[in-house]
Amino acid sequence: MEDQAEKLREIVNRKKDSPSGSPEKPSRIVSRDSKKTRIITVTSGKGGVGKTNLSVNMALAYARLGKKVVVMDADLGLANVNVMLNMVPKYNLYHVIKKQKTIREILVDTDYGISIVAGASGFSQIANMAENERQNFINELDTLSNADIIIIDTSAGVSSNVLDFIAAADDAVIITTPEPTAITDAYGIIKIIATEYDDLNMGLKLVVNRAKGAVDAKKVADRMITIAGQFLNLKVDYLGFIYDDVVVSHAVLRQKPFMVIDPRCKASLCVQHIVERLEKSELRKSEGLGGMMRKLFGRSK
Ligand SMILES: Nc1ncnc2c1ncn2[C@@H]1O[C@H](COP(=O)(O)OP(=O)(O)O)[C@@H](O)[C@H]1O
Ligand SMILES: [Mg+2]
Repeated sequence: MEDQAEKLREIVNRKKDSPSGSPEKPSRIVSRDSKKTRIITVTSGKGGVGKTNLSVNMALAYARLGKKVVVMDADLGLANVNVMLNMVPKYNLYHVIKKQKTIREILVDTDYGISIVAGASGFSQIANMAENERQNFINELDTLSNADIIIIDTSAGVSSNVLDFIAAADDAVIITTPEPTAITDAYGIIKIIATEYDDLNMGLKLVVNRAKGAVDAKKVADRMITIAGQFLNLKVDYLGFIYDDVVVSHAVLRQKPFMVIDPRCKASLCVQHIVERLEKSELRKSEGLGGMMRKLFGRSK
């Protein structure tokens, strides 16, 4: 816990002190292109709480609604969307940054009606991109704008990259389990978002994964939402829960999404419900994909 708090402070201080780091806060109310690509980040305080499973299966649920969906693996350390889908993409974001490939060339269709942009451990090098590399990368990512939905599976915890992704997206989905450690770390990331972007009326949304049931999950969510409201003056919406379901771990072992293994299992029905709720929720105005990427990479030195 001490570690997490220390990391949070460090990031806040760095951002505040940095002369050229990030003086400007992202503005939320800005015009958007006519073509709406909804950008959803999935993140958590603690690792292993279900980000990748939620990202991939949410993408499938969206695809079933007839949406064109891209899952982008932005986990800096553990790029594993492709592993979950039993795919071995030859190229990933690293090759795009290095101008060896275009994003269209690395975008891979899956058997499930969604496309993926594979991540790389080298993704963290984005922060150190040269100006021309950065510009090229931004232009490249713009070409994803014909997707209806882009789901970004981020790494756990707080890094500036993750925070920037969260701030720039339309919806930031925070996922936790009912475990006290996961809850504390989820609260930690909500707190850092509130500290960093205090002018931002953002659509933070909470998912409780691996719950025993609706009552159990709601208790966890209510506590977190109340504390965020009281201490951070931040509105967090409860998006729903996912049952702890043995189908999930089976699916992971078989390297297929649980929505494919059993679309009627408890976890699948929950994810479907989550996507329905997201669809009903109001879409915040944002600058769309290009704007997001400019914010993301225009901010670092
Ligand atoms: N709803 C669930 N029910 C049962 N097991 C789950 C559930 N969600 C996640 N898990 C287990 O947790 C592991 C980690 O999930 P994953 O999506 O890879 O987490 P993250 O991306 O946050 O690291 C999975 O391999 C699976 O075994
Ligand atoms: Mg993951």
